Amino acid sequence: MTSVPPLNVLIIGSGGREHALLHACQASPLVASIAVAPGNGGMATETTCHPLNVEDVPATVTLAQKLGTNFVIVGPEVPLALGVVDALEAAGIPAYGPRKDAAQLEASKTFTKDFLLRKKIPTAAGEKFTAAQPAIDYLQTRSFPIVIKASGLAAGKGVVIASSLAEAEQTVRDMLENRRFGSSSEEILIEDFMDGEEASIMLMVSGTDYLMLPPSQDHKRIGDNDTGPNTGGMGAYAPASVVTPAIEQRVIQEIVEPTLQGLAADGITYRGTLYIGIMVTRDGPKVVEFNVRFGDPECQILLPLLATDPVALMYACAQGKPLPKDIRFHSGSAAIVVLTAAGYPGEIRKNDRISLPATLPENSQILHSGTRRAEDGQLYTSGGRVIGAVARGPSLATALQRAYQLAEEIQFAGRHFRRDIGARQLQRDAQSPH
Ligand code: GLY
Repeated sequence: MTSVPPLNVLIIGSGGREHALLHACQASPLVASIAVAPGNGGMATETTCHPLNVEDVPATVTLAQKLGTNFVIVGPEVPLALGVVDALEAAGIPAYGPRKDAAQLEASKTFTKDFLLRKKIPTAAGEKFTAAQPAIDYLQTRSFPIVIKASGLAAGKGVVIASSLAEAEQTVRDMLENRRFGSSSEEILIEDFMDGEEASIMLMVSGTDYLMLPPSQDHKRIGDNDTGPNTGGMGAYAPASVVTPAIEQRVIQEIVEPTLQGLAADGITYRGTLYIGIMVTRDGPKVVEFNVRFGDPECQILLPLLATDPVALMYACAQGKPLPKDIRFHSGSAAIVVLTAAGYPGEIRKNDRISLPATLPENSQILHSGTRRAEDGQLYTSGGRVIGAVARGPSLATALQRAYQLAEEIQFAGRHFRRDIGARQLQRDAQSPH
């Protein structure tokens, strides 16, 4: 790897993903100083947090310049879609994350569907619409359930699986006529439903060179056994063996390579994390969506599995340099249990006082999301997903046992967490023990 100057890092974001990135920076010998903007109550006890509206690109560049930052790590998708990396690079500051043109892979579902179909990358059939009547005419030719997506960014809420024509028609009208997601649903995508099991594939990309992190699985519903409304993610584990070595090979050959080569052929340079949501169907893996940043909560379990310094990899990606070939992972598994606030994912209650354990189980960590440190030094809930209990272990069972022990010891009124994180994988392990 090329020589790296002592890095004065600025991390953009305020969730568990960014707290995991902060821990990765703290462990890196390459990092001389770390600042975060805007951060959260947990990060505030570990480093300096600066107020920032992450959607204000000029303010982000000004902050980075004021702090003498020479490497920015961008956590969330919105600033990427707004071109924060382009603006930082124009100011001479390297940044981890794709530029605005590449960030369309997440910011425009219709851009992505066009790209996938044009490059013959496996995905569901789909059509885009800006007017309700043609969309409804199209629905009459399809079978149900069917998937309707707001094309633009909608904080993970812009996808509806409609089980009947009536529900689909109502959804189309809500999105296109009533602008349920504002300008994000000026255009919609209607796609065929794919039956199978979902998994997350996270790549760290430097042009057409990349590192594939272990496949993981997120738990999106609020309740055990995948019941109740969707959330921003209630937990995750990795590796997920639903992505068998054979499926992984197909992902590489049929999805990853054509995607990176297809982007390059279209004149788009990709640098940063590419998150490929896949459906493992009877016909093989197919793309559900692309995201242009680390998944949350997947990031919180993937970084601890990486034995090679993630900061070195991110810096190489940001520079468009080749990645080292000797990248190492810890053996075993990692899991995260996300603790949520009263009311989540509906109207949440804030300002419940949080008490944390004095000691942590082996190889575990607490990663904050919706927390706030008050003037009295106490920690309070300030968001829906409050905190994550993360652990690594020689097996998934051990990682889960540690994560759940930690989750039990983090207390606040209204606390909720799922009890079945990783259960599918435990079942798979029981059916085919190594
Ligand atoms: N874990 C889902 C996401 O980050 O979008």
